[in-house]
Amino acid sequence: MRRYHVTTFGCQMNAHDSERIKGLLEDLGLGEAATSEEADVVVFNTCTIREKPDTKLAAYLGEAAASKRRDPSKVIAVGGCYAEAQQERIFSLYPDVDVAFGPGSIAHLGDWLGAGGVGIARGRFGLDDRAFAAELPQHGERSYQAWVQVSMGCNSTCSYCIVPAVRGREQSRRPGDILAEVTQLASDGVREITLLGQNVNSWGRDLLPDIHTEFGELLRACDAVDGIKRIRFTSPHPKDFREPVIAAMAECASVCEQIHLPLQSGSSRILKAMRRTYDRDRYMALAEKLRDRIPDVALGTDIIVGFPGETEADFADTLAVVKEVAFESAFTFVYSPRSGTDAATMADQVPHEVKIERMERLVELTQSIARSKNAARIGRIEEVLVEGPSRTDPTQLRGRTRRNTTVNFTGSAQAGDLVDVIIESSTSTTLRGTQHATASSTVATGPTGVSGRL
Ligand code: SAH
Ligand code: SF4
Ligand code: F3S
Repeated sequence: MRRYHVTTFGCQMNAHDSERIKGLLEDLGLGEAATSEEADVVVFNTCTIREKPDTKLAAYLGEAAASKRRDPSKVIAVGGCYAEAQQERIFSLYPDVDVAFGPGSIAHLGDWLGAGGVGIARGRFGLDDRAFAAELPQHGERSYQAWVQVSMGCNSTCSYCIVPAVRGREQSRRPGDILAEVTQLASDGVREITLLGQNVNSWGRDLLPDIHTEFGELLRACDAVDGIKRIRFTSPHPKDFREPVIAAMAECASVCEQIHLPLQSGSSRILKAMRRTYDRDRYMALAEKLRDRIPDVALGTDIIVGFPGETEADFADTLAVVKEVAFESAFTFVYSPRSGTDAATMADQVPHEVKIERMERLVELTQSIARSKNAARIGRIEEVLVEGPSRTDPTQLRGRTRRNTTVNFTGSAQAGDLVDVIIESSTSTTLRGTQHATASSTVATGPTGVSGRL
């Protein structure tokens, strides 16, 4: 049997797309190999949002090329956002690549491989006839958790961001298609779903005039599906976080008390240059409203440090907002110019050392806030969805709370179980505890396929 291996870079949308790439390859009769070295078809699902994933990919492709020289029948395929950004150039940059495809053209991988070997370099890019990856066969990494794509593309024009150029304009999936998938997942034993879109809460706007709906209504419809115990979504844009979504979050039992709400900067001047279309006050008012309306909500965020023109005063504004909102978690990024974006050619690029020094201060602040937020959970009983053995200590179990914090705990349960855990200690990123005598609920059949890789 021919075997494949998929390496995934980037965001949850790529994690979702990789499951579809795997499903498609399995439909063609390929089995999964444990490493790319052992695989006949090696796929890289790439990201190009910052420079780092580009360099990482170059290293991986170097290794794959060396192994292809030992075994010339090996097929190297490159998909995802970097492939879309480079298009045909990818074949001259990396002559060992056999096939390449953009995020909207995943199905073509099947055409090439299904037709039997690939002799010449082939590429399929472009955003005109994109298809939802969600319509392809699925290979779920975890039997109890699933990604659900609700839209593709993004209509925002954030001046630093490459995503609209490589994923295209926003297109929403029809609610009937999404709900059919969620219902099927629930009957397959999935208990937690994460709804995915580059701007997930603007979902539905482009379905007018045929369908009049919005993201809050979708949350309610998913909440009504039997068997789905937890609903998450990512990423919402602060400009589109409207009342019906807040009301749905507050009222639907399975929608988790967790929101990833990218801030990017705490300076209104920088937010304007970023074209985020909200300012500091509007963001803070939204964060306050969310904390007020959704009891015990955990707020996470993304922040970019060193956007062109960012002064010490702008950065101080970011620190002030971080302190005030007191984020439970934060992903922090050093600004990285992306060719083709407006910010890449802006004057006043911030020197690297300044970016790094600001980043250190920001990380110190976000970690100290997260540490005290997690410490405040000690003594509480948290509902945990079990993911499998702990990564650091196999005698312990690992799972996540509704607020999306990782918990390592002593207990006996299987992946997919929902159990209660008493929290006994904490760090800035994890909680530790012991399973409480009465499990919240347990699944009858033991799910398999636990994978901690993302
Ligand atoms: N659609 C998502 C963005 C996903 S990209 C959203 O709007 O929330 C994830 C994060 O990468 C962004 O939120 C941003 O913080 C960061 N990012 C995007 N472009 C970047 C760049 N050029 N340099 C540094 N960080 C960037
Ligand atoms: Fe990029 Fe902005 Fe769209 Fe997010 S909302 S994907 S940061 S353009
Ligand atoms: Fe990267 Fe593409 Fe996601 S550029 S962050 S994989 S949308």
